[in-house]
Amino acid sequence: MASINYRVSAGRPLAGTVKVAGDKSISHRAVMLAALAEGRSVITGLLEGEDVLGTIGAFRALGVSMEGPDAGRLVVEGVGLHGLQAPVGPLDLGNSGTSMRLLTGLLAAQPFGTRLVGDESLMKRPMERVAAPLRLMGAVIQTGDGGRPPLHIVGGQRLTGIHYDLPVASAQVKSAILLAALYATGETTIKEPAPSRDHTERMLVGLGYPVRRVGAEIHVTGRAGTLRALSFTVPADLSSAAFFLVAASIVPGSRVVLKEVGMNPTRTGILEILRAMGADIAVTHEAVVSGEPVADLTVTAAPLRGVTIAPALVPLAIDEFPAIFVAAACAQGTTVLRGAAELRVKESDRLAVMARGLKALGVQVEEFPDGMAVTGGTLHGGAIESGGDHRIAMAFAVAGLCASAPVLVQDCRNVATSFPAFVEQARALGFDLELTHA
Ligand code: S3P
Repeated sequence: MASINYRVSAGRPLAGTVKVAGDKSISHRAVMLAALAEGRSVITGLLEGEDVLGTIGAFRALGVSMEGPDAGRLVVEGVGLHGLQAPVGPLDLGNSGTSMRLLTGLLAAQPFGTRLVGDESLMKRPMERVAAPLRLMGAVIQTGDGGRPPLHIVGGQRLTGIHYDLPVASAQVKSAILLAALYATGETTIKEPAPSRDHTERMLVGLGYPVRRVGAEIHVTGRAGTLRALSFTVPADLSSAAFFLVAASIVPGSRVVLKEVGMNPTRTGILEILRAMGADIAVTHEAVVSGEPVADLTVTAAPLRGVTIAPALVPLAIDEFPAIFVAAACAQGTTVLRGAAELRVKESDRLAVMARGLKALGVQVEEFPDGMAVTGGTLHGGAIESGGDHRIAMAFAVAGLCASAPVLVQDCRNVATSFPAFVEQARALGFDLELTHA
């Protein structure tokens, strides 16, 4: 397949108003839970990125009829919690860790067996973190070498509720257990070491299934109800907006408005971090849509300074560190992140790939096993390898805006997994971004 490269040059201030793509995490869950609901659900604002298309494809293969997606609208004919059918052949989930991990929980509880595979990146990602707690519930799951995919899930098991202390703050692991727990006998309790995104819990409650949070614990009882179909609107993705928040902060004279962005407090770590760095981000038109807080964000360029990021903010900004490291590279002083070893097992090893790329642009970087120190300065141009990682590709596109010569970002194809309109919207805001096909 031809590789797509971005060539980004510094240029004029950024200006304009955009609504970025639908939230990826919420889109996955909306498709999954609508499929398990009783009757027809209508989802609007859905992300039509490849990851979510992978989830849609998997549910079609599991016997769920859907119309769309078309301009973010998907109509799902829910089959109920017990209506999924055995797929013919393995389910290929592409680049999407969320699809694979959440589906593992759901499929562990089905009467039929399944096999899950993915692309080169996904086939390297750790899966024992979901398989281990599910086995404690009675699931039978085989992982491949080193606990990686392919996953072979044996159907027809009786699951029992467990109490599970999550070793890492992972919404994917939490959600996989929650989905399995819907089918388990008795109560399941999940204790989080720190809050992680809570979209699954919110959506289950929105669909009429009781989920209780008591302090750091989430309680759910299996077979305690059904999911009712619903009209659901997905907010714009703060994780996609992040690139424009950083871009407009670092290009002098910029002012950008991002509309209807998801503001779930388990996701807003980036706002806290950027504000601590001196960013000027105003929040207006706050509302709650389909159980999720949303708001418009107006970002005005401001000089940034380096900060030490509190480890407690790590799970609340986990996907935003590529963008935050670029902000740090354009800030005055040093930004230090620790307690973020999880970044090594994302779509790429984000600490290694970001450190390598920033160094290639002349930035002073110290890499730690669990983080990085980035000292701001002048970026020169250069060629960057994204590692096939969508968020790294977009982060270095932003870096090109404050470099003294063009930045060539290689291997940007996977931007389509989470933000298919990135190039179009970036250009509309004033990015000088050329596409080249290698
Ligand atoms: C996600 C949770 C996070 C995040 C990922 C999406 C989700 O992963 O990095 O992009 O939708 O639940 P972890 O749960 O592994 O931290």
